[in-house]
Amino acid sequence: MSSNFDRHRRLRSSAAMRDLVRETVLHTDDLIYPIFVKEGKEAKTEVSSMPGVFQFPLHELAAEITELTKLGIKAIILFGLPDDKDDVGTGAYHDHGIVQEATRLVKKIAPDMLVIADTCLCEFTDHGHCGVIENGGVKNDASLELLKQTAVSQAKAGADIIAPSNMMDGFVQVIREGLDEAGYQDIPIMSYAVKYASAFYGPFRDAANSAPQFGDRKTYQMDPANRLEALREAKSDEREGADFLIVKPSLSYLDIIRDVRNQTNLPVVAYNVSGEYAMVKAASANGWIDEERIVMEMLTSMKRAGVSLIITYFAKDVALYLKGDA
Ligand code: PBG
Repeated sequence: MSSNFDRHRRLRSSAAMRDLVRETVLHTDDLIYPIFVKEGKEAKTEVSSMPGVFQFPLHELAAEITELTKLGIKAIILFGLPDDKDDVGTGAYHDHGIVQEATRLVKKIAPDMLVIADTCLCEFTDHGHCGVIENGGVKNDASLELLKQTAVSQAKAGADIIAPSNMMDGFVQVIREGLDEAGYQDIPIMSYAVKYASAFYGPFRDAANSAPQFGDRKTYQMDPANRLEALREAKSDEREGADFLIVKPSLSYLDIIRDVRNQTNLPVVAYNVSGEYAMVKAASANGWIDEERIVMEMLTSMKRAGVSLIITYFAKDVALYLKGDA
């Protein structure tokens, strides 16, 4: 009997056959691991809402970098926790700020490790906003000046990539000008081009002590309901000279990742954020899900949606899964 329907199951008949036709494969090279570095002499502390994620003092950073190198992770993104904060975020652009010092240390002990510096003010301002406050609002252009100084001091400390995340208009252009003027024409910008005002950042704000002390970030981060606006944001950043475009968060925004991918030829990056991590860890701790399979499925879906790279707190777990030692 000859059938006239399609036999899709032919290509699923064995593990080898499935391997042969698989369209999307996750590699350790695709992963960027976020690290929180803190000032002071205290021991590292685990972030309660993010099991397995720590705030590292500089004296414990080397061991972590060695572990990452062994796992084959080639890129990290640094977030800083200063002891002192002020209203203009001085710690962000101080040549001996915590991110600058951590960058110098990592480049000294592991010169091949790519250091991406998150370029923002919210971890360094006492009000917790990502820019300068005037009359109760975040001032765009005054904030740009400080962001430019932050980027230049990070590049000076040895950062390989600058990742501005404060969502001020024009930040890529101003940072590009600043880097070029300071002689860092070859340092790429990985822009948080499409960053939504998302509840998924909750655990990060515990990890980085960066919750806004009044109001919210909705005048600079995007409305989760908007799609066309994401394409406008991505277009501006590309025109201003971004080398990579980040979409953040990732899981609730896979449609946006695909749309951005279809509009650009730049590498697109997913930020698999803190809330996405915390939910999986919590469900897994309760024995409700198979963590490894869930994580691999989530990260594979981001690549399938169109990203080249994923910033993820699961990077070490995934590196172990891929080595087959988890
Ligand atoms: C800084 C910044 C944030 C995140 C990355 N960079 C927090 C925010 O905008 O509130 C969030 C990352 C995460 O949730 O994992 N502006």
